[in-house]
Amino acid sequence: MTRAGDAAARIEALRESIRYHNYRYYVLDDPEIPDAEFDRLFRELVELEQQHPELISADSPTQRVGAEPLAEFAKVTHVIPMLSLNNAFSEEELAAFYKRVSEKLETETVEFVAEPKLDGLALSITYENGKLVNAATRGDGVTGEDVTHNVRTIDSVPLRLRGSDYPRLLEVRGEVFMPLAGFEELNRRQQKMGEKTFANPRNAAAGSLRQLDPRITAQRPLQIFCYGLGQVQPDKELPVSHYDSLMQLRQWGLRVCPEVTRVSGFKCCLDYYQNLSAKRSALPYEIDGVVYKVNSFVQQQQLGFVSRAPRWAIAHKFPAQEELTVVEAIDVQVGRTGAITPVARLKPVFVGGVTVTNATLHNRDEIERLDVRVDDTVIVRRAGDVIPKVVSVVKSKRKAGARKYKFPDKCPVCHSSIVYEPEQVVARCSGGLFCSAQRKQSIKHFASRRAMDIEGLGDKLVEQLVDEGLVQDVSDLYRLDKTRIAGLERMADKSAENLLKALDVSKNTTLPRFLYALGIGQVGEATALALARHFGDLDAIMSASVEQLTAVDDVGPVVAESIHTFFRQPHNKDIVKKLRGKTIGIHWPALEKKQVSGSPFADKTVVLTGTLAAMTRDQAKARLQELGAKVAGSVSRKTDFVVVGEDAGSKADKARELGVTMLDEKTFLDKLGGH
Ligand code: IVH
Repeated sequence: MTRAGDAAARIEALRESIRYHNYRYYVLDDPEIPDAEFDRLFRELVELEQQHPELISADSPTQRVGAEPLAEFAKVTHVIPMLSLNNAFSEEELAAFYKRVSEKLETETVEFVAEPKLDGLALSITYENGKLVNAATRGDGVTGEDVTHNVRTIDSVPLRLRGSDYPRLLEVRGEVFMPLAGFEELNRRQQKMGEKTFANPRNAAAGSLRQLDPRITAQRPLQIFCYGLGQVQPDKELPVSHYDSLMQLRQWGLRVCPEVTRVSGFKCCLDYYQNLSAKRSALPYEIDGVVYKVNSFVQQQQLGFVSRAPRWAIAHKFPAQEELTVVEAIDVQVGRTGAITPVARLKPVFVGGVTVTNATLHNRDEIERLDVRVDDTVIVRRAGDVIPKVVSVVKSKRKAGARKYKFPDKCPVCHSSIVYEPEQVVARCSGGLFCSAQRKQSIKHFASRRAMDIEGLGDKLVEQLVDEGLVQDVSDLYRLDKTRIAGLERMADKSAENLLKALDVSKNTTLPRFLYALGIGQVGEATALALARHFGDLDAIMSASVEQLTAVDDVGPVVAESIHTFFRQPHNKDIVKKLRGKTIGIHWPALEKKQVSGSPFADKTVVLTGTLAAMTRDQAKARLQELGAKVAGSVSRKTDFVVVGEDAGSKADKARELGVTMLDEKTFLDKLGGH
């Protein structure tokens, strides 16, 4: 064989291998080789093609990027129109749809395919003899725009189908979307470069796909899920149901959403909706409902279409996450450390499944950026359990004469001045513990479950105690007497007794909890634990220098400074002394290593990657540290375990590469379980 022949053979082998690994990665979500190995194969192919440009073909995996910008989009006519879906906004509307379908089909139990309604934009991709030849947007359903050059840059769209049993002409339809993480990263990048940011992932996906310059699209993290067929020729040997056709698409290398499943009967449809709704905030992409499609193609044909939508499918929408409302006032709230958070008081609005009356405005810069004013009409967003926020102001609805909001320079509670620390966006009330708002917050924090865990001491009660002058600082809590408490609104003898009991119980605590409860700026649970471990007792922490404090794992100069300053304040020292003194007697066991020794994580280095369903990453980290582990940020040969959650990325690959023991969530929880 000639050298060129060798190169041609190697090039083909590399292309095959790259296509295979792309399929494993994007379609099966089950990569076989580490990213680095994939990159090596890819680079080798690029180099060989550079040496032999005559061997480059349009369907080579290297040919995704690089086409020149277009002057304008060409129009594409959809031979089979791209339809829309009718919506059901409630269970009743879904029930009416189900009834129509089952009556028409004369069956009680109809089988559907349930799929997430993806929040992106519809795309049609045409393959001829297995090769991608065209991709077009939906447009008005009949005429779309030719975006082939851009679609070729989307890694999860195969340029060539797998196998050989595909029809000569295959038109696939699906949704192009931008995953949430990629969207946030893109906006950060855009902001840094002074470019415009996108309001949501859908807009970002649309803006990225409708680019004349494919080199820009190539830098945008677009993905696709395929959900149906368009033209197919010959169409004789196609599967007989929607579900089977999706599975067939998957085999040809096209990406299908893993949440797709078959459901039978009305109740199963609702169950799917509930389950997906609960899962929604954990999905790495945005969805806005469920699409149910009659599974059997024969039955689909029986049902047919009305105007622009099929009678065999419906979109069951989730409650909207964005709504319009009016800002009735802008107030500021004072946090435990004096941080001033502006809040928009809203005309009540039903959004994301709840009635919202307040939305955070974060800080002064954010108010400035939004230019939000009292009486403005705004878009409010509430997604999952996230705190509602004001997304933007509808400027066209602004009333004439609306005055620009002026950020206060005095604390609305104690009237001390509001100050800005250099380089910080947060404004703070300078009143310290003189400010009753700060006192209330610090008492609430002290009593909270993960701190001193004083059962029955809720927010409302703390507010009453401070307002009535019964409690000035946390040490006063332990001097309360029963009659005083019982005399408060909504309290009685029994509840007063219970509170006193809970206060008594709380005196028996642990050093990390106590440290955390003090509410030292920057000291969360994990830092409190690290400090307790490092120094062993409170006196050592209180007298430690900034240098000694920085020697603690994960304590940087800013945190060290904050701890040091806290324990130099006479009133803080005084409170700690009172709390530990004979009269109150808060105590904790000397820190022993007992809980740590014998733990499977003692002295092990552990790396966390991906999302865990059972706990946040911080919680996992804190648990591991309690059990004597060092939690590191990256994988190396010194790593003992890598805990691999959902959507784990390159750290899992690295672990595989280095042969580090990997624990999936279940194994991890089992290991934690006994300790
Ligand atoms: S099927 C004839 N399936 O919703 C059925 N559409 O309102 C045509 N969409 O333009 C569409 N997820 O952009 C279908 N799983 C899904 C979908 C989906 C999102 C979008 C699509 C379409 C619009 C119709």
